[in-house]
Amino acid sequence: MLDLSENLKKMNKYVKVFAPATVANVICGYDVLGFALNAPGDEVEIELKKTPGVELTEITGDQGLLPRDPLKNTVTATISGILEKIGRKDLGISVKLHKKMPIGSGLGSSAASTVAGIFGVNKLLGEPLSIKELMPFALKGEEIACGHGHADNVAPSLYGGFVLIRSYEPLDIIPLPTPEKLIATVIHPQIEIQTRDARKIVRQHILLRDAIEQWGNIAGLVSGLYRSDYALIGRSLEDRLIEPSRAILIPEFYELKKNALALGALGFGISGSGPSVFALCDNLKTAQNIKTMVQSRFEQVGVNSHAFVSSVNADGPRVLSVQS
Ligand code: HSE
Repeated sequence: MLDLSENLKKMNKYVKVFAPATVANVICGYDVLGFALNAPGDEVEIELKKTPGVELTEITGDQGLLPRDPLKNTVTATISGILEKIGRKDLGISVKLHKKMPIGSGLGSSAASTVAGIFGVNKLLGEPLSIKELMPFALKGEEIACGHGHADNVAPSLYGGFVLIRSYEPLDIIPLPTPEKLIATVIHPQIEIQTRDARKIVRQHILLRDAIEQWGNIAGLVSGLYRSDYALIGRSLEDRLIEPSRAILIPEFYELKKNALALGALGFGISGSGPSVFALCDNLKTAQNIKTMVQSRFEQVGVNSHAFVSSVNADGPRVLSVQS
């Protein structure tokens, strides 16, 4: 068992934590690339209580959609996993989850909740675990939420910035640099796509010539981030493998993409498993013009939408308040 005596002396009574939404895949990097947004994000309040066990006392903002059973809810289930890992199942933890983003939107909604919970409980307990040690719990949360433990939402939410998942077994997370001018527009059309369904329509066999283009683009994007080369980033934001299968789920996808590129987007694609779409831009004005264009096109076809214009969140989750 871990020796946590020093950390546990620094235990707090209460923490409130924010964890950011994320854009997974970043067009060319299915399951291996993602970045965090400054807005939106979820909040979690975690408090020590006298009786042992993890309880979920309140969820706000989810329209009753999320499980209330603490064994099935990703936040409380992963917190229980952490207590078990550090040998403190005797502790009592009470959790409130405040959803501040749409569920099933392609913005990493379940990931933001899970990350807020595991980051928050780690703070409450005096940080017995490192960020790297929290990652397996984050993956477990994704498995509970959508049946598959992909890391491209939870890793950027937990680390901040752009993140590459070089390998899953063993897990190898590589934080990448964020060029200063990058700004994202994310538009969420109000249709729901469950990640578990959107994963079922992805092709399992691909042509070598498509794979060659794809890994060229992933390497190009990573190089572009290191060199702050916006033109190279733009050239690399192409997806041969996943977008052709999933674009049919999103109204007017190819028209929106053509228009966004004409307005100056570096790239335009599906955020995570959709239905949100996003553009990466190198200035605020372009990002705002694309937001207006996409929302009015959605409106013309009778689809309401929410939009967020956000710089890249470099820091990951943050403590909003703490009582020791
Ligand atoms: N990489 C995952 C997918 C992200 O595209 O299915 C889900 O948000």
